Amino acid sequence: MSLNRPLIGVIMGSISDADVMKSCMELLEELELPHEVKVLSAHRTPDLTREYAESAADRGIEVIIAGAGWAAHLAGAIAAHTTLPVIGVPIDSSPFKGMDALLSTVQMPAGIPVATVAVGSGGAKNAAVLAAQILGLKYPHIAEKVKHHRKRLTEKASENIDSWAN
Ligand code: RP5
Repeated sequence: MSLNRPLIGVIMGSISDADVMKSCMELLEELELPHEVKVLSAHRTPDLTREYAESAADRGIEVIIAGAGWAAHLAGAIAAHTTLPVIGVPIDSSPFKGMDALLSTVQMPAGIPVATVAVGSGGAKNAAVLAAQILGLKYPHIAEKVKHHRKRLTEKASENIDSWAN
């Protein structure tokens, strides 16, 4: 089964976040998950960010991934305007190396959650996997892709079991 409409919205706070967020997009492509990518800022384009969040579900988006650095309010601002699941990627673009973005993203008040993944490109990859896991609850073919991806990870890691013995 293939779906052509984007199921996942990937948002980044600045084009300068693209180096980190490309890890997310590459994995979404590898998993063949239809997605759209936008650059929207909670602080610099707040009205466009709100409009995006408010209209996402009606346009068929089912999960939103939002990556931002510094005082990273993007994921939380999106979560405030939609009941879709929102995954936040804290980006290590500031002098605090992402600690500021981590706290800004994860410390949401009760009732408006953001599923916050690790800081940086590892987190960006995990955001793609977590989005796939969420969608896999509804789409069996996506659940299969997640299982296949996990199997490949295990196989790759297993290749190194005896590598120190040389
Ligand atoms: C945040 O400010 C963005 O997510 C980015 O990580 C950071 C710096 O943005 P630029 O000044 O590089 O555009 O909003």
